[in-house]
Amino acid sequence: MCGIFAYKGKARKLFPQFLCDGLLKLEYRGYDSSGIAFVSNQKIHIYKEIGEVKNLQKLVFKNDLSSKVGIGHTRWATHGRVTKKNAHPHLDCNKDIAVVHNGIIENFEIIKKDLIKKGHKLISQTDTEVIPHLIEEENKKNKNFTESAFKTFQKIQGLNAFVAINSKDEIVAFKNGSPLVAGILKEGYLITSDIPTISEYTDRLILIKDNEGIVIKDNNIFKIKDGKIKKAKVSNIKIQKETSDKGKFKHFLIKEIYEEPDVIKRIAQNSTEEITEASDLIKKAVGTYFSACGTASHAGIAATYLFSKIAKKHVNFSVSSEFEYFQHFLIPQSLLIAASQSGETIDTLEAIKAAKKHKSKILALVNVPGSSIERISDFSIHLNAGPEKSVLSTKSYIAKLSIFLLLAYKVADKYKVGQKLLLETSNKIRFFYKKEYIQKIKLLAKKLKNQKHIYVIGRGLNYATALEAALKLKESSYIHAEGFAGGELKHGVIALVEEKTPCIAIVANDDSKNAILSNTQELKARGAYIIGISPINEKVFDYWLKVPDLKEASVIANIIPIQFLAYYLTLEKGLNPDKPRNLAKSVTVK
Ligand code: G6P
Repeated sequence: MCGIFAYKGKARKLFPQFLCDGLLKLEYRGYDSSGIAFVSNQKIHIYKEIGEVKNLQKLVFKNDLSSKVGIGHTRWATHGRVTKKNAHPHLDCNKDIAVVHNGIIENFEIIKKDLIKKGHKLISQTDTEVIPHLIEEENKKNKNFTESAFKTFQKIQGLNAFVAINSKDEIVAFKNGSPLVAGILKEGYLITSDIPTISEYTDRLILIKDNEGIVIKDNNIFKIKDGKIKKAKVSNIKIQKETSDKGKFKHFLIKEIYEEPDVIKRIAQNSTEEITEASDLIKKAVGTYFSACGTASHAGIAATYLFSKIAKKHVNFSVSSEFEYFQHFLIPQSLLIAASQSGETIDTLEAIKAAKKHKSKILALVNVPGSSIERISDFSIHLNAGPEKSVLSTKSYIAKLSIFLLLAYKVADKYKVGQKLLLETSNKIRFFYKKEYIQKIKLLAKKLKNQKHIYVIGRGLNYATALEAALKLKESSYIHAEGFAGGELKHGVIALVEEKTPCIAIVANDDSKNAILSNTQELKARGAYIIGISPINEKVFDYWLKVPDLKEASVIANIIPIQFLAYYLTLEKGLNPDKPRNLAKSVTVK
């Protein structure tokens, strides 16, 4: 997490505002605090503020300084609480070097102790602060900023990216694991944490590989490899243009939910080539494994059911942060399918790296073309869901499920059946978006807003829906919500159910129906208030949200009422639907 935005080039007017504009595009990576540092009159100027970038904008709005070089940062706190002192950029003792950083320096405590022994004064609780002080220390020996930064990069352990500037207008950046990319503008260069942030400015990019750096000198950009300065290769990458436009909607979350029927339709109509290639890979593979994080992981769990039911094929799933612990059976013929909206999630990248060690093939499912995950994979499928800005993932979940459904049908040699089912789904879910339906969800949000706990149950394919529903509810409303396989209730969870505890039952019209209804009865018998999500209004329900009967595609349709519910719960509770506390859209720390 954390977003980095840096510039070096011809002097720009209103420099602090320019840096803040860049940071706004990166805010989805963290919004605990933000800060900028830039050089003007051979002096480093620094501004920091807690909370969203708009707070920093307010702080600098009267500042009209121009500058040739500067760095900015949005923070998702890892080491040290959310305070101004812990906000980036961080400085050395002489306030002559400023650094922004993304990642975790695993050996920072040892380094910090050593720096303090040498007389350095560190004022924050962060791991980052050791970087400017290490550069300062190295500078005493060699007086070369780039070399000192390189030596510092060699000393820090873990997955990291940093950009450093000094008061002499010098700038240097290094990365290992955490994302960093440079872009060439007419009047200078940008360095940022992700490609889409640069899309507004340029599509001429310098991709920085792990353990490499870049330096901008005399109006030229160079790569640093093994400490040596080399010519940088320019790549022209077609970038997904960012849109910060909410259109007629108040928030990105609701806008993105409204886009879902079209996302499904687009996938049904335009994915034949990619699905055919992916299906061939699966058919050839000796073992197929899915891996992903967060919402994407629930799509991965759904995929295991879809492949079993439709393609009669065994596939495995593991959340990416656990993947490395059971990588040991992978072989070169194995296939890892890694799904990620952002294409930057570090845990998913690490799972891919683990599979690569075994020379296994990698197929990526990403929403951001050109992202790190796509770049290190052998094959890729684009979700084509359009930019997803709300931290709560919605339309990209629907897109992943749609692709997995089509893929399962293709592996079963029934592609057309899958296509037809997706088109039917896209049409049949449109009634969710009608006024009366929304009214019903708003009413439910009012009923639930003061609850402490909500439990969600599902079976079979809709076990994944139960997990995703619980995640959506907690991320949005901060109400404790848990999703369970209906059959697991009696093995412990049922002890938590009291009189009027709200329980959501996802009831699909499939082979799981009778069993999940029995589990719902078990909840009802303990006094639970039952909210049914089902094509039919069953007797056991106290509140009913109708969903279309879509067979295997029920997993796509059934989550949508919950996504709406999550949105209206945030409004009921006066929360920001697009930026839940403590979360970030792109998670680039382990
Ligand atoms: C973060 C986000 C989640 C998302 C997860 C995986 O935790 O808050 O909404 O599902 O990352 O992200 P990815 O970009 O890999 O799909």
